[in-house]
Amino acid sequence: MTLARAPSVASVVVAPGNAGCTQSGRGAVAPIARRALDINDPAAVVAAAKEEKIDLVVVGPEAPLCRGVVDALSAAGIAAFGPTAAAARLEGSKAYMKRFAKEQNIPTAPFVVTSDYAEAARFIDANPRARVVKADGLAGGKGAVVTSSVDEAKRAARDMLMGGRFGDAGRTVVVDALLEGVEMSVHVVTDGERYLVLPVARDYKRVGDGGEGPNTGGMGAIGPIVVDPKLMKRIEQEVIQPTLAGMREAGTPYRGVLYAGIMVAPDGTPNLLEHNVRFGDPETQVLVHLLDGDLAELMASVAAGELDEGAVAVGERHAMVVVAAADGYPGPPREGDLVGGMEQAAMQEGVRIVHAGTDLQGGALVTAGGRVLGVVAIGESAEQARTRAYRAAEKLSWPGIHFRRDIGT
Ligand code: AMP
Ligand code: GLY
Repeated sequence: MTLARAPSVASVVVAPGNAGCTQSGRGAVAPIARRALDINDPAAVVAAAKEEKIDLVVVGPEAPLCRGVVDALSAAGIAAFGPTAAAARLEGSKAYMKRFAKEQNIPTAPFVVTSDYAEAARFIDANPRARVVKADGLAGGKGAVVTSSVDEAKRAARDMLMGGRFGDAGRTVVVDALLEGVEMSVHVVTDGERYLVLPVARDYKRVGDGGEGPNTGGMGAIGPIVVDPKLMKRIEQEVIQPTLAGMREAGTPYRGVLYAGIMVAPDGTPNLLEHNVRFGDPETQVLVHLLDGDLAELMASVAAGELDEGAVAVGERHAMVVVAAADGYPGPPREGDLVGGMEQAAMQEGVRIVHAGTDLQGGALVTAGGRVLGVVAIGESAEQARTRAYRAAEKLSWPGIHFRRDIGT
C-alpha cells in the first residue's frame, strides 16, 4: 500500500497478498493487483516478474531472501531490493550471526552454538544466565525461547535438539545468556556501504499486557522512540558499521534493509540480539507512516547500488500500530470469522487499517491468520496517536478478537 502511494509508482503487483491488496485505501493510490505465486521459488518469481514487466521487485520476507530470490532476479537482470542469500544468513542462521558478531567485536550475549544436547546442558549448568534457547534456522519468528530456570532452558534445548521442535531449523541451537535492558528496533536501508537510519521503533512481542504471556510475531509498535544521540552513535559504530564492513570483507556485501534488534544494557552497551534481513512487522506499519517522500525510489536506488538518501525524509509526527489478533493466537488461530466494524474503525481521524491475516469469502472480509489487522494511527504526539489507534481498534469485532491495551505506554 505504501509503495502504491509512492509518486514514482504506476502500479503494484503483490504476491501472494491479502484481502487488503484489492481494496484501495484513502488518498491517491496506484492500482494494486494480487497474484498467486510460490514466493519461495526463485524461478517462479523471475518468471512472474518477466511476465508482469516488473521494474523493481521488493522481496519482503526472510524465507524467499534466504532461498536466493534476489540472486535469481539479479542474474536475470531484474532490479531487486533485498540481500542475496549469502547475506541473508544474518537472519537465516542464528549460529552464523552470533559467530559473525563475535568475529566483528559486535556486542552480543555470551553464547554457545551446538547440535549436541549434552553440550547445551553443560553450558546451561555452567552459566547461571544461559536461559535463552534459539533454533538456528528460520522458525517463523517463534524460534527463540526465553526461559527463567535451568530446567526450562534444558527442556527447550532438548525439545529442539532431540524432540524435533522446529524441525531442521532446530537441529542446531544457540544458547544465549539472558540480557536485560531496553529493547529497540533499529532499521537501516543500505547499499552495502552507505546507510540511512530510519526512525527507531519499539515493538511489543508478548501477547499480553505488561509483557505477559508467550512471544508473538509482534502485537504492536510505536515510534519514533527518542534515543539519546550518543547511544545512537554507539549503535551505528558498534553494530551497524561493523556489520556492513564485515559483510563486505566476507565477500557478501549486504544490500537492502537491515533490522537490528538491540537490547541496551543498563550500562549503555547496545547488545545485538538479532539481525533481521527485512523490515520488522509490525514496526514497519509505524515506520512508513513516519516517512515522507518516495520509498520506491529509495528501494530502487539500493537495488542499483547507489543509496539515494534524499528519496525519503522523516516527518514531524508520531505513529502507532495495535495488532488485532484472532482467537487462539499465538497458537493456531481460529479462521474464517467475519470481520465487523471495519468501516467505523477506518473512518476514525488519523487512522489507517492495514491488512495482515485477512481474506475475502463471497465478498465478505474474514479472518485468515493470527494477526488479522493492524490499526495504525498518526498523531502530533504519541498520546494522540495512541488515543486514535485505540478508538479505532475498539470498533473492530470478531469472535475472540484480542489486542494489547498498553501499546505505547
Ligand atoms: P530472536 O528470535 O533472536 O529474534 O529473538 C526474539 C526475541 O527474544 C527478542 O526480540 C528478545 O525479546 C528475546 N531475546 C532474544 N535473545 C535474548 C537474550 N539473549 N536475552 C534476552 N532476550 C532475548
Ligand atoms: N517485530 C518482530 C519482527 O519483525 O521480527
